[in-house]
Amino acid sequence: MRFNNKVALVTGAGSGMGKSIALFLAKEGADIIVNDINSELANATADDINNIGQQGLSVTADISSEDEVQSMVEKSIVVFGRIDFLINNAGISDQFVPTIEQKADYWQRVIDIHLRGCFLCSKEVGKHMIEKRYGKIVNISSVVGIGGSPMRNAYGPAKAGIIMLTKTLAVEWASYNINVNSVSPGYILTPLIEKGIELGIIDDKVIIRRTPMGRLGRPEEISEAVAFLLSDAASYVNGCNLPVDGGWTSFGSYGDAFNIP
Ligand SMILES: NC(=O)c1ccc[n+]([C@@H]2O[C@H](COP(=O)([O-])OP(=O)(O)OC[C@H]3O[C@@H](n4cnc5c(N)ncnc54)[C@H](O)[C@@H]3O)[C@@H](O)[C@H]2O)c1
Repeated sequence: MRFNNKVALVTGAGSGMGKSIALFLAKEGADIIVNDINSELANATADDINNIGQQGLSVTADISSEDEVQSMVEKSIVVFGRIDFLINNAGISDQFVPTIEQKADYWQRVIDIHLRGCFLCSKEVGKHMIEKRYGKIVNISSVVGIGGSPMRNAYGPAKAGIIMLTKTLAVEWASYNINVNSVSPGYILTPLIEKGIELGIIDDKVIIRRTPMGRLGRPEEISEAVAFLLSDAASYVNGCNLPVDGGWTSFGSYGDAFNIP
């Protein structure tokens, strides 16, 4: 039980990786503030956490809204008195449209949820972490924030921004005993990706061939990496971006990456 007596706020914890991270940390002894914009999903994750025997507090909020983030953090502090861990995970996909056809409003929405959301949650939770002189933040970026992907003109820049925000906060808050790191998942089988495959905007067969390990990732494989960065084992890791991608970002050759003779 690595996280006994710790309190973690996980954004977008109603589905996919956020839900997996929330349950993973609860199984290791943490109480969880379960954020999602969808209250039904947030309540279901909080129920699962209560069933594990930890406290799950469901808080519905849109992380791109400053008012809603402030209320969420205030409510969490009233209930728990502190927030030890923040996992900035909530996000949406982009629409994979050519840049000249991208609608400025949709572009802005993607940037707002990912980058502004990560900034707002870090700012509000960071105030309390600074006061306590303790905290760990893990931001979920993406391999799409590391290498350029055509038609991902909003998501890619937002995720790249998250990597730089991570480094900025890591060096700004290091002297307060706050570690800030990011994880960049490759393609992980969650409802977000399942929907993309269903709509025909993501081709999983091509992704599998382009991934040196020859498969999509599992949400638990991201939870393991997040838990490591939150644990004492990573006490001197700060400002790092950890790709968890089956080798995706290391592959720089031509053609398929899997089953190379
Ligand atoms: N699945 C992948 O392959 C993959 C790869 C790299 C990065 N990511 C990133 O991982 C994170 C989680 O993705 P996932 O695949 O689990 O997706 P998902 O769609 O399964 O879960 C995302 C959750 O975030 C919530 N959410 C969306 N907008 C929100 C908002 N404004 N405020 C609060 N909650 C909001 C959704 O309701 C949903 O429950 C995202 O940031 C995504 O960009 C995913």
